[in-house]
Amino acid sequence: MLDKPNTMSSFWMPFTANRDFLREPRMIQSAEGMYYTSSDGRQIMDGTAGLWCVNAGHRDPLIVEAVQKQVHELDYAPNFQFAHPQAFELSGKLTAMMPEGMNHAFFTNSGSESVDTALKIALHYHRMRGDSARTRLIGRERGYHGTGFGGISVGGIVKNRMHFGTLLTGVDHLRHTHDLDRNAFSRGCPAHGAELADDLERIVALHDASTIAAVIVEPMAGSTGVLLPPKGYLQRLREICDRHGILLIFDEVITAFGRLGAATAAEYFGVKPDIITTAKGLTNGVIPMGAVIVSDDIYNSAMENAGAPIELFHGYTYSANPVSCAAALAALESYEQNDLFRRAALLSQPWEDQLHSLKGLPNVIDIRNLGLVGAIELAPREGAPGARAYEAMKRAWDAGIMIRVTGDIIALSPPLIISEPEITKLVQTLGEVLAELP
Ligand SMILES: Cc1ncc(COP(=O)(O)O)c(C=O)c1O
Repeated sequence: MLDKPNTMSSFWMPFTANRDFLREPRMIQSAEGMYYTSSDGRQIMDGTAGLWCVNAGHRDPLIVEAVQKQVHELDYAPNFQFAHPQAFELSGKLTAMMPEGMNHAFFTNSGSESVDTALKIALHYHRMRGDSARTRLIGRERGYHGTGFGGISVGGIVKNRMHFGTLLTGVDHLRHTHDLDRNAFSRGCPAHGAELADDLERIVALHDASTIAAVIVEPMAGSTGVLLPPKGYLQRLREICDRHGILLIFDEVITAFGRLGAATAAEYFGVKPDIITTAKGLTNGVIPMGAVIVSDDIYNSAMENAGAPIELFHGYTYSANPVSCAAALAALESYEQNDLFRRAALLSQPWEDQLHSLKGLPNVIDIRNLGLVGAIELAPREGAPGARAYEAMKRAWDAGIMIRVTGDIIALSPPLIISEPEITKLVQTLGEVLAELP
Protein backbone atom coordinates (compact mmCIF):
# COMPACT_ATOMS: atom_id res chain seq x y z
CA MET A 1 0.00 0.00 0.00
CA LEU A 2 1.20 3.49 -0.78
CA ASP A 3 2.31 5.37 2.30
CA LYS A 4 -0.01 8.36 2.00
CA PRO A 5 -0.40 11.01 4.68
CA ASN A 6 -3.81 10.68 6.37
CA THR A 7 -5.40 14.04 5.69
CA MET A 8 -8.92 15.04 6.67
CA SER A 9 -9.73 15.82 3.05
CA SER A 10 -9.70 12.10 2.30
CA PHE A 11 -13.31 12.11 3.58
CA TRP A 12 -15.49 13.91 1.00
CA MET A 13 -18.35 14.88 3.27
CA PRO A 14 -21.96 14.60 2.06
CA PHE A 15 -24.13 17.74 1.77
CA THR A 16 -21.36 19.72 3.51
CA ALA A 17 -19.37 22.86 2.89
CA ASN A 18 -16.21 20.71 2.96
CA ARG A 19 -13.68 23.54 2.58
CA ASP A 20 -15.23 25.55 5.39
CA PHE A 21 -15.63 22.48 7.63
CA LEU A 22 -11.94 21.58 7.33
CA ARG A 23 -11.01 25.04 8.54
CA GLU A 24 -13.30 24.75 11.55
CA PRO A 25 -14.41 21.14 12.16
CA ARG A 26 -17.38 20.24 14.34
CA MET A 27 -16.50 16.77 15.59
CA ILE A 28 -18.72 14.42 17.58
CA GLN A 29 -17.19 11.81 19.86
CA SER A 30 -20.09 10.04 21.55
CA ALA A 31 -23.78 10.34 22.31
CA GLU A 32 -26.32 9.45 24.98
CA GLY A 33 -30.03 10.21 25.11
CA MET A 34 -30.60 13.84 24.06
CA TYR A 35 -26.93 14.78 23.92
CA TYR A 36 -23.78 14.44 21.87
CA THR A 37 -20.35 14.92 23.37
CA SER A 38 -18.10 16.90 21.05
CA SER A 39 -14.45 15.97 20.68
CA ASP A 40 -13.55 18.99 22.82
CA GLY A 41 -15.68 17.50 25.62
CA ARG A 42 -18.78 19.73 25.40
CA GLN A 43 -22.37 18.52 25.72
CA ILE A 44 -24.37 19.40 22.59
CA MET A 45 -28.14 19.00 22.71
CA ASP A 46 -29.46 17.17 19.67
CA GLY A 47 -32.14 19.48 18.29
CA THR A 48 -32.54 17.48 15.11
CA ALA A 49 -32.56 13.79 16.13
CA GLY A 50 -29.42 13.44 14.01
CA LEU A 51 -30.88 13.74 10.54
CA TRP A 52 -34.51 13.27 11.63
CA CYS A 53 -33.80 9.67 12.58
CA VAL A 54 -32.87 9.20 16.26
CA ASN A 55 -36.46 9.31 17.51
CA ALA A 56 -35.82 7.27 20.68
CA GLY A 57 -32.68 9.21 21.56
CA HIS A 58 -29.09 8.04 21.30
CA ARG A 59 -27.82 4.63 22.38
CA ASP A 60 -31.23 3.30 23.37
CA PRO A 61 -30.24 0.22 25.44
CA LEU A 62 -32.90 -2.00 23.83
CA ILE A 63 -31.51 -1.35 20.36
CA VAL A 64 -27.84 -1.56 21.37
CA GLU A 65 -28.42 -4.94 22.99
CA ALA A 66 -30.52 -6.31 20.13
CA VAL A 67 -27.87 -5.40 17.56
CA GLN A 68 -25.07 -6.91 19.64
CA LYS A 69 -27.03 -10.14 20.11
CA GLN A 70 -27.99 -10.43 16.45
CA VAL A 71 -24.52 -9.88 15.09
CA HIS A 72 -23.31 -12.77 17.29
CA GLU A 73 -26.03 -15.11 16.02
CA LEU A 74 -26.66 -14.40 12.35
CA ASP A 75 -24.56 -11.63 10.83
CA TYR A 76 -25.83 -11.89 7.28
CA ALA A 77 -28.23 -13.99 5.26
CA PRO A 78 -29.43 -13.37 1.73
CA ASN A 79 -33.09 -12.64 1.16
CA PHE A 80 -33.08 -13.52 -2.53
CA GLN A 81 -34.74 -16.98 -2.65
CA PHE A 82 -33.76 -17.61 1.02
CA ALA A 83 -34.78 -15.75 4.13
CA HIS A 84 -34.47 -15.50 7.90
CA PRO A 85 -37.28 -15.27 10.47
CA GLN A 86 -36.60 -11.69 11.62
CA ALA A 87 -37.51 -10.34 8.20
CA PHE A 88 -41.01 -11.82 8.53
CA GLU A 89 -41.35 -10.78 12.15
CA LEU A 90 -40.37 -7.22 11.27
CA SER A 91 -42.65 -6.95 8.23
CA GLY A 92 -45.55 -8.15 10.40
CA LYS A 93 -44.85 -5.63 13.18
CA LEU A 94 -44.20 -2.81 10.76
CA THR A 95 -47.29 -3.31 8.62
CA ALA A 96 -49.42 -3.58 11.77
CA MET A 97 -48.52 0.08 12.40
CA MET A 98 -49.54 1.14 8.91
CA PRO A 99 -53.00 2.23 7.73
CA GLU A 100 -55.69 -0.40 7.13
CA GLY A 101 -55.10 -2.45 3.98
CA MET A 102 -51.38 -1.63 3.74
CA ASN A 103 -49.97 -5.01 4.68
CA HIS A 104 -46.80 -5.60 2.65
CA ALA A 105 -43.29 -4.27 3.20
CA PHE A 106 -40.34 -4.24 0.79
CA PHE A 107 -37.02 -3.54 2.52
CA THR A 108 -34.32 -1.14 1.35
CA ASN A 109 -31.30 0.53 2.98
CA SER A 110 -32.16 4.22 2.89
CA GLY A 111 -34.81 6.78 2.12
CA SER A 112 -33.40 7.29 -1.37
CA GLU A 113 -33.69 3.59 -2.11
CA SER A 114 -37.20 3.53 -0.66
CA VAL A 115 -38.19 6.30 -3.05
CA ASP A 116 -36.69 4.57 -6.09
CA THR A 117 -38.37 1.35 -5.01
CA ALA A 118 -41.75 3.06 -4.60
CA LEU A 119 -41.53 4.69 -8.04
CA LYS A 120 -40.59 1.37 -9.63
CA ILE A 121 -43.40 -0.46 -7.84
CA ALA A 122 -45.87 2.17 -9.11
CA LEU A 123 -44.74 1.65 -12.72
CA HIS A 124 -44.76 -2.11 -12.23
CA TYR A 125 -48.30 -2.02 -10.79
CA HIS A 126 -49.81 -0.35 -13.83
CA ARG A 127 -47.95 -2.68 -16.15
CA MET A 128 -49.16 -5.73 -14.24
CA ARG A 129 -52.69 -4.49 -14.82
CA GLY A 130 -52.13 -4.00 -18.53
CA ASP A 131 -52.17 -0.21 -18.14
CA SER A 132 -48.62 0.21 -19.37
CA ALA A 133 -49.10 3.70 -20.85
CA ARG A 134 -49.12 5.02 -17.29
CA THR A 135 -45.45 5.91 -16.97
CA ARG A 136 -45.36 9.54 -15.89
CA LEU A 137 -44.28 10.35 -12.34
CA ILE A 138 -45.41 13.56 -10.69
CA GLY A 139 -43.48 15.18 -7.86
CA ARG A 140 -43.71 18.64 -6.35
CA GLU A 141 -41.55 21.76 -6.42
CA ARG A 142 -39.29 21.92 -3.35
CA GLY A 143 -39.89 18.23 -2.64
CA TYR A 144 -37.00 16.21 -1.23
CA HIS A 145 -36.98 12.52 -2.03
CA GLY A 146 -33.34 11.65 -1.47
CA THR A 147 -30.50 11.66 -3.93
CA GLY A 148 -30.99 8.73 -6.29
CA PHE A 149 -31.84 9.60 -9.89
CA GLY A 150 -35.49 8.73 -9.23
CA GLY A 151 -35.60 10.89 -6.13
CA ILE A 152 -33.94 13.94 -7.65
CA SER A 153 -36.12 13.64 -10.76
CA VAL A 154 -39.39 13.82 -8.83
CA GLY A 155 -37.77 16.08 -6.22
CA GLY A 156 -37.94 19.82 -6.58
CA ILE A 157 -34.85 21.30 -4.96
CA VAL A 158 -32.93 23.10 -7.68
CA LYS A 159 -29.37 22.61 -6.37
CA ASN A 160 -29.98 18.86 -5.97
CA ARG A 161 -31.00 18.62 -9.65
CA MET A 162 -29.16 21.23 -11.68
CA HIS A 163 -25.72 19.60 -11.75
CA PHE A 164 -26.82 16.13 -12.75
CA GLY A 165 -27.97 16.16 -16.32
CA THR A 166 -31.43 15.54 -17.69
CA LEU A 167 -32.67 13.14 -15.00
CA LEU A 168 -35.64 10.81 -15.59
CA THR A 169 -37.89 11.70 -18.49
CA GLY A 170 -41.66 11.88 -18.19
CA VAL A 171 -41.65 13.70 -14.86
CA ASP A 172 -43.69 16.77 -13.98
CA HIS A 173 -44.11 18.79 -10.79
CA LEU A 174 -46.97 20.23 -8.79
CA ARG A 175 -46.58 23.73 -7.40
CA HIS A 176 -45.20 23.89 -3.87
CA THR A 177 -47.40 25.07 -1.01
CA HIS A 178 -45.15 27.65 0.66
CA ASP A 179 -46.98 30.97 0.94
CA LEU A 180 -45.58 33.36 3.52
CA ASP A 181 -47.85 36.20 2.40
CA ARG A 182 -50.93 34.32 3.50
CA ASN A 183 -49.62 31.87 6.09
CA ALA A 184 -46.66 33.35 8.02
CA PHE A 185 -46.57 32.47 11.74
CA SER A 186 -49.32 29.85 11.41
CA ARG A 187 -49.58 27.45 14.31
CA GLY A 188 -49.88 23.94 12.92
CA CYS A 189 -51.10 23.46 9.35
CA PRO A 190 -51.70 26.74 7.52
CA ALA A 191 -55.24 27.79 6.68
CA HIS A 192 -54.62 28.84 3.08
CA GLY A 193 -53.68 26.75 0.07
CA ALA A 194 -55.82 23.59 -0.12
CA GLU A 195 -56.66 24.67 -3.68
CA LEU A 196 -53.00 24.16 -4.67
CA ALA A 197 -53.82 20.44 -4.86
CA ASP A 198 -55.91 21.30 -7.92
CA ASP A 199 -52.62 21.87 -9.72
CA LEU A 200 -52.76 18.13 -10.32
CA GLU A 201 -55.80 18.75 -12.54
CA ARG A 202 -53.65 21.11 -14.64
CA ILE A 203 -51.05 18.37 -15.06
CA VAL A 204 -53.74 15.82 -15.89
CA ALA A 205 -55.17 18.19 -18.50
CA LEU A 206 -51.71 18.62 -20.00
CA HIS A 207 -50.63 14.97 -20.18
CA ASP A 208 -53.91 13.05 -19.82
CA ALA A 209 -54.47 10.88 -16.78
CA SER A 210 -53.96 7.71 -18.83
CA THR A 211 -50.22 8.50 -18.98
CA ILE A 212 -49.72 9.21 -15.26
CA ALA A 213 -48.58 6.44 -12.93
CA ALA A 214 -48.17 8.15 -9.58
CA VAL A 215 -47.89 11.32 -7.57
CA ILE A 216 -45.26 11.45 -4.83
CA VAL A 217 -45.28 14.04 -2.05
CA GLU A 218 -43.95 14.38 1.45
CA PRO A 219 -47.12 14.78 3.54
CA MET A 220 -45.05 17.28 5.51
CA ALA A 221 -42.04 18.47 3.56
CA GLY A 222 -39.02 18.42 5.88
CA SER A 223 -35.65 18.75 4.22
CA THR A 224 -36.68 21.69 2.05
CA GLY A 225 -37.24 23.65 5.25
CA VAL A 226 -40.45 22.33 6.82
CA LEU A 227 -43.39 23.15 4.57
CA LEU A 228 -46.63 22.07 6.15
CA PRO A 229 -49.60 20.97 4.07
CA PRO A 230 -52.39 23.55 4.03
CA LYS A 231 -55.52 22.29 5.78
CA GLY A 232 -57.45 20.01 3.41
CA TYR A 233 -54.65 19.86 0.81
CA LEU A 234 -53.76 16.17 1.22
CA GLN A 235 -57.42 15.11 1.25
CA ARG A 236 -57.94 16.99 -2.01
CA LEU A 237 -54.85 15.44 -3.59
CA ARG A 238 -56.15 11.99 -2.65
CA GLU A 239 -59.55 12.73 -4.24
CA ILE A 240 -58.00 13.89 -7.49
CA CYS A 241 -55.71 10.84 -7.65
CA ASP A 242 -58.73 8.59 -7.09
CA ARG A 243 -60.73 10.35 -9.79
CA HIS A 244 -57.99 9.64 -12.33
CA GLY A 245 -56.65 6.22 -11.30
CA ILE A 246 -53.30 7.73 -10.19
CA LEU A 247 -51.39 6.13 -7.31
CA LEU A 248 -50.56 8.38 -4.36
CA ILE A 249 -47.18 7.87 -2.70
CA PHE A 250 -46.47 9.47 0.67
CA ASP A 251 -42.76 9.85 1.27
CA GLU A 252 -42.73 9.36 5.04
CA VAL A 253 -38.98 8.97 5.46
CA ILE A 254 -39.05 11.61 8.19
CA THR A 255 -42.70 11.59 9.26
CA ALA A 256 -43.09 7.87 9.99
CA PHE A 257 -42.40 6.63 13.52
CA GLY A 258 -43.85 9.36 15.64
CA ARG A 259 -42.56 12.67 14.35
CA LEU A 260 -46.09 14.12 14.15
CA GLY A 261 -47.38 12.25 17.19
CA ALA A 262 -48.71 9.23 15.28
CA ALA A 263 -47.14 6.17 13.65
CA THR A 264 -47.44 7.81 10.23
CA ALA A 265 -48.46 11.14 8.74
CA ALA A 266 -51.12 9.17 6.86
CA GLU A 267 -52.66 8.30 10.22
CA TYR A 268 -52.16 11.82 11.56
CA PHE A 269 -53.87 13.48 8.59
CA GLY A 270 -56.42 10.69 8.05
CA VAL A 271 -55.41 10.31 4.39
CA LYS A 272 -54.46 6.88 3.09
CA PRO A 273 -51.93 6.72 0.27
CA ASP A 274 -51.27 3.63 -1.87
CA ILE A 275 -47.57 3.46 -1.01
CA ILE A 276 -45.60 4.73 2.00
CA THR A 277 -41.83 5.10 1.97
CA THR A 278 -39.92 4.94 5.25
CA ALA A 279 -36.32 4.78 6.54
CA LYS A 280 -34.52 6.79 9.27
CA GLY A 281 -36.63 6.17 12.41
CA LEU A 282 -37.23 2.58 11.34
CA THR A 283 -33.99 1.64 13.10
CA ASN A 284 -33.64 4.83 15.14
CA GLY A 285 -30.76 5.65 12.80
CA VAL A 286 -28.55 2.92 14.25
CA ILE A 287 -28.24 0.80 11.09
CA PRO A 288 -29.17 1.91 7.57
CA MET A 289 -32.57 0.51 6.63
CA GLY A 290 -35.70 1.60 4.81
CA ALA A 291 -39.03 0.02 3.96
CA VAL A 292 -41.72 0.60 1.37
CA ILE A 293 -45.20 -0.36 2.49
CA VAL A 294 -47.79 -1.03 -0.19
CA SER A 295 -51.52 -1.64 -0.33
CA ASP A 296 -53.00 -5.11 -0.68
CA ASP A 297 -54.16 -4.14 -4.16
CA ILE A 298 -50.61 -3.40 -5.30
CA TYR A 299 -49.14 -6.54 -3.76
CA ASN A 300 -51.95 -8.78 -4.98
CA SER A 301 -51.81 -7.46 -8.49
CA ALA A 302 -48.13 -8.46 -8.66
CA MET A 303 -48.82 -11.88 -7.12
CA GLU A 304 -51.74 -12.54 -9.46
CA ASN A 305 -50.46 -11.10 -12.72
CA ALA A 306 -46.67 -11.51 -12.85
CA GLY A 307 -45.71 -14.04 -15.49
CA ALA A 308 -42.22 -15.10 -14.44
CA PRO A 309 -41.64 -16.99 -11.19
CA ILE A 310 -40.12 -13.82 -9.74
CA GLU A 311 -42.87 -11.21 -9.39
CA LEU A 312 -40.71 -8.10 -8.98
CA PHE A 313 -37.23 -7.85 -10.44
CA HIS A 314 -35.92 -5.56 -7.75
CA GLY A 315 -34.03 -5.82 -4.47
CA TYR A 316 -30.81 -5.04 -2.66
CA THR A 317 -28.05 -7.24 -1.24
CA TYR A 318 -28.89 -5.78 2.16
CA SER A 319 -32.70 -5.83 1.87
CA ALA A 320 -33.83 -6.98 5.33
CA ASN A 321 -30.29 -7.65 6.53
CA PRO A 322 -30.65 -9.55 9.84
CA VAL A 323 -28.76 -6.97 11.91
CA SER A 324 -30.88 -4.14 10.46
CA CYS A 325 -34.00 -6.20 11.20
CA ALA A 326 -32.88 -6.67 14.81
CA ALA A 327 -32.29 -2.92 15.15
CA ALA A 328 -35.70 -2.14 13.63
CA LEU A 329 -37.54 -4.67 15.80
CA ALA A 330 -35.91 -3.17 18.89
CA ALA A 331 -36.63 0.40 17.74
CA LEU A 332 -40.32 -0.38 17.24
CA GLU A 333 -40.34 -2.08 20.64
CA SER A 334 -38.74 0.95 22.24
CA TYR A 335 -41.26 3.33 20.63
CA GLU A 336 -44.07 1.20 22.00
CA GLN A 337 -42.64 0.57 25.48
CA ASN A 338 -41.93 4.25 26.00
CA ASP A 339 -45.18 5.37 24.32
CA LEU A 340 -43.11 7.79 22.28
CA PHE A 341 -45.66 8.65 19.60
CA ARG A 342 -48.15 9.72 22.26
CA ARG A 343 -45.39 11.56 24.05
CA ALA A 344 -44.66 13.52 20.87
CA ALA A 345 -48.37 14.31 20.53
CA LEU A 346 -48.54 15.55 24.12
CA LEU A 347 -45.40 17.65 23.77
CA SER A 348 -46.53 19.27 20.54
CA GLN A 349 -48.43 22.06 22.35
CA PRO A 350 -45.61 23.22 24.67
CA TRP A 351 -43.28 22.84 21.68
CA GLU A 352 -45.49 25.14 19.60
CA ASP A 353 -45.77 27.70 22.41
CA GLN A 354 -42.03 27.77 23.02
CA LEU A 355 -41.14 28.07 19.34
CA HIS A 356 -43.54 30.91 18.69
CA SER A 357 -41.99 32.83 21.60
CA LEU A 358 -39.11 33.56 19.18
CA LYS A 359 -41.39 35.80 17.11
CA GLY A 360 -40.06 39.34 17.05
CA LEU A 361 -36.36 38.41 17.14
CA PRO A 362 -34.29 40.12 14.43
CA ASN A 363 -34.73 38.74 10.90
CA VAL A 364 -37.32 36.12 11.89
CA ILE A 365 -39.91 36.21 9.08
CA ASP A 366 -41.79 33.01 9.90
CA ILE A 367 -42.13 30.32 12.55
CA ARG A 368 -43.99 27.11 11.80
CA ASN A 369 -44.57 23.87 13.69
CA LEU A 370 -46.31 20.52 13.64
CA GLY A 371 -45.89 17.55 15.98
CA LEU A 372 -42.28 17.74 17.14
CA VAL A 373 -41.11 19.64 14.08
CA GLY A 374 -40.36 23.32 13.96
CA ALA A 375 -38.89 25.83 11.56
CA ILE A 376 -37.72 29.39 11.87
CA GLU A 377 -37.33 31.20 8.58
CA LEU A 378 -34.87 34.10 8.46
CA ALA A 379 -34.71 36.97 6.03
CA PRO A 380 -31.76 36.31 3.70
CA ARG A 381 -28.77 38.63 3.74
CA GLU A 382 -28.55 40.90 0.75
CA GLY A 383 -26.80 38.99 -2.06
CA ALA A 384 -25.92 36.01 0.18
CA PRO A 385 -28.87 33.64 0.45
CA GLY A 386 -28.34 30.96 3.10
CA ALA A 387 -25.42 32.75 4.78
CA ARG A 388 -27.41 33.99 7.78
CA ALA A 389 -28.83 30.57 8.72
CA TYR A 390 -25.48 28.87 8.07
CA GLU A 391 -23.86 31.23 10.56
CA ALA A 392 -26.69 30.53 13.01
CA MET A 393 -25.92 26.81 12.72
CA LYS A 394 -22.25 27.38 13.54
CA ARG A 395 -23.00 29.71 16.44
CA ALA A 396 -25.61 27.26 17.77
CA TRP A 397 -22.98 24.52 17.82
CA ASP A 398 -20.69 26.80 19.82
CA ALA A 399 -23.60 27.53 22.17
CA GLY A 400 -24.26 23.80 22.71
CA ILE A 401 -27.19 22.91 20.42
CA MET A 402 -27.35 21.11 17.08
CA ILE A 403 -29.75 22.65 14.58
CA ARG A 404 -30.16 22.04 10.86
CA VAL A 405 -30.45 24.61 8.12
CA THR A 406 -31.71 24.65 4.54
CA GLY A 407 -31.22 27.95 2.79
CA ASP A 408 -32.27 30.51 5.38
CA ILE A 409 -34.59 28.15 7.23
CA ILE A 410 -33.63 26.60 10.56
CA ALA A 411 -35.29 23.21 11.10
CA LEU A 412 -35.75 21.58 14.49
CA SER A 413 -36.83 17.97 15.06
CA PRO A 414 -35.56 16.73 18.43
CA PRO A 415 -35.65 13.12 19.60
CA LEU A 416 -39.15 12.30 20.87
CA ILE A 417 -37.70 11.70 24.35
CA ILE A 418 -37.11 15.43 24.83
CA SER A 419 -38.51 16.83 28.10
CA GLU A 420 -40.29 20.16 28.57
CA PRO A 421 -37.27 21.74 30.36
CA GLU A 422 -35.09 20.57 27.46
CA ILE A 423 -37.49 22.17 24.96
CA THR A 424 -37.16 25.40 26.93
CA LYS A 425 -33.37 25.11 26.94
CA LEU A 426 -33.21 24.37 23.19
CA VAL A 427 -35.47 27.25 22.23
CA GLN A 428 -33.88 29.70 24.67
CA THR A 429 -30.38 28.91 23.44
CA LEU A 430 -31.53 29.34 19.84
CA GLY A 431 -33.19 32.62 20.82
CA GLU A 432 -29.90 33.88 22.28
CA VAL A 433 -28.09 32.92 19.08
CA LEU A 434 -30.66 34.69 16.89
CA ALA A 435 -30.67 37.79 19.06
CA GLU A 436 -26.93 38.27 18.41
CA LEU A 437 -26.89 37.14 14.77
CA PRO A 438 -26.02 39.90 12.27
C1 LIG B 1 -38.71 12.76 2.62
C2 LIG B 1 -37.37 12.15 2.40
N1 LIG B 1 -37.22 11.21 1.47
C3 LIG B 1 -36.04 10.62 1.24
C4 LIG B 1 -34.93 10.97 1.98
C5 LIG B 1 -33.61 10.32 1.67
O1 LIG B 1 -33.22 9.49 2.68
P1 LIG B 1 -31.71 8.93 2.72
O2 LIG B 1 -30.84 10.09 3.03
O3 LIG B 1 -31.76 7.88 3.80
O4 LIG B 1 -31.43 8.34 1.38
C6 LIG B 1 -35.04 11.93 2.97
C7 LIG B 1 -33.87 12.33 3.77
O5 LIG B 1 -33.87 13.33 4.46
C8 LIG B 1 -36.28 12.55 3.19
O6 LIG B 1 -36.44 13.52 4.11
